[in-house]
Amino acid sequence: MAQRNSTERTRRSFLKTTGVAAAATTLAGGIVPRVHAAESNTLRVALVGCGGRGTGAAVNALSVKDQGPIKLVAMADVFPDRLKAAYAHLKQGMSASVDVPPERQYVGFDAYKQAMDCLGPGDVVIFASPPAFRWVHFGYAVEKGLNVFMEKPVTVDGPTTKRMLDLADESLRKNLKVGVGLMCRHCVARGELAKRIQGGEISDIIALRAYRMTPPVGFFASKKKPDGISELMYQVQRFHGFIWASGGAYSDFLIHNIDESCWMKNEWPVEAQASGGRHFRGDYVDQNFDNYSVEYTFADGSKLFLYGRNMVGCKQEFASYAQGSKNSAVISTAAHYPAKSRIYRGQRIGSKDDLLWRYERNEPNPYQLEWDNLIEAIRRDKPFNEARRGAEASLVTSMGRMAAHTGQVVTYDRMLHCDHEMAPDVDKLVIDGPAPLEPNDDGTYPIPLPGITTKREW
Ligand SMILES: NC(=O)c1ccc[n+]([C@@H]2O[C@H](COP(=O)([O-])OP(=O)(O)OC[C@H]3O[C@@H](n4cnc5c(N)ncnc54)[C@H](O)[C@@H]3O)[C@@H](O)[C@H]2O)c1
Repeated sequence: MAQRNSTERTRRSFLKTTGVAAAATTLAGGIVPRVHAAESNTLRVALVGCGGRGTGAAVNALSVKDQGPIKLVAMADVFPDRLKAAYAHLKQGMSASVDVPPERQYVGFDAYKQAMDCLGPGDVVIFASPPAFRWVHFGYAVEKGLNVFMEKPVTVDGPTTKRMLDLADESLRKNLKVGVGLMCRHCVARGELAKRIQGGEISDIIALRAYRMTPPVGFFASKKKPDGISELMYQVQRFHGFIWASGGAYSDFLIHNIDESCWMKNEWPVEAQASGGRHFRGDYVDQNFDNYSVEYTFADGSKLFLYGRNMVGCKQEFASYAQGSKNSAVISTAAHYPAKSRIYRGQRIGSKDDLLWRYERNEPNPYQLEWDNLIEAIRRDKPFNEARRGAEASLVTSMGRMAAHTGQVVTYDRMLHCDHEMAPDVDKLVIDGPAPLEPNDDGTYPIPLPGITTKREW
């Protein structure tokens, strides 16, 4: 810790005495101003949430080319084994860029603070824990003046969305660079399609259709808590099963297709109605429905129809489409990339004779592109802040989920002003403390009951 503080002091005095705004270093790939980097010109990265995506995001961060040196210097998680595994993986693959000795590996619900305390203004922190913690972690990063990459969804309910929107404004005021892991927004094929659609190539959008229908993935299904783990840590570990932690499978898995569809329309829907149900639950007691069908409505009356399913033995599809009054388009073809975006004459999507345009070039990995763009913005002090859009996409996602879970029409405003904060004290959790969701006496969990529980989701 003493070493860190002295580094901090050195950096501050460097910033003061060098008039750093004008300082620049020439690298192979171009000019890399020091204005937003440490005095050594090394951009320092901390990782909070060392699971699958956190590790992947760290690899993307450390793989950015031609933008100056980047180092991972601190890691935080609530499970020591997750941190250890991520560290071993990163160290093995990217040893020269990983400088995280045991004293900068932090475990616990406060670990995020300790990891961020290893950074200084201009450095960047990654948030890839379950979404419930996002506003807590983002709040601390904004307070400290850190640049941020945070995974989607960034909120799961109305009260935390309001908080996140305020933090987004504050991060803009502080000129922080903020990336949100809706990486498809950085996809070159979808970007080209969005321009064409907004330029009128399919005429007015009448309907968008989005599908994520797959067998169960992630922690979609959870049984009763076994012995040997506390209720809180069970819910945190299997966060896809608990609405307070993640917005459930709905929010976690469907947000990408919702967001890319709304991007084509260039606006958010104003209301949603939906259905969904639990069919093959067996011993699984988590809060998820097996399937969701949502009709989102935009202000002009046009629609986004969304289908989400986690079942084996059914048709699988993971794609989004736009139907215009003249022509139609494939937004994405299968999973996240390559999108293979295309435009067709009329409504016969897939008809070779009617193909009007397709993205011809190779599609770079959007998970890498979002990092290339973020780091370039940090180095060159370009505008880059996705916090507000990420919060809005998360709210629109919650709106469809709440419509399905309650059986009611849910408007954008109703979702934003819904006062059910699902984990009110999530910033005060301690490892051996109670969980935000109390199980029933028999070890099952309260579930959504559409038409019966209508003001909140369980
Ligand atoms: N953009 C994408 O395509 C994409 C893909 C996968 C996951 N994600 C997102 O990334 C996030 C993590 O998902 P994952 O698949 O990596 O899950 P994961 O379970 O593999 O990783 C989550 C990690 O966060 C840790 N954690 C939990 N609470 C924490 C806290 N309070 N502080 C610090 N660490 C904490 C867990 O122990 C775990 O190691 C989710 O929001 C998910 O939606 C995005």
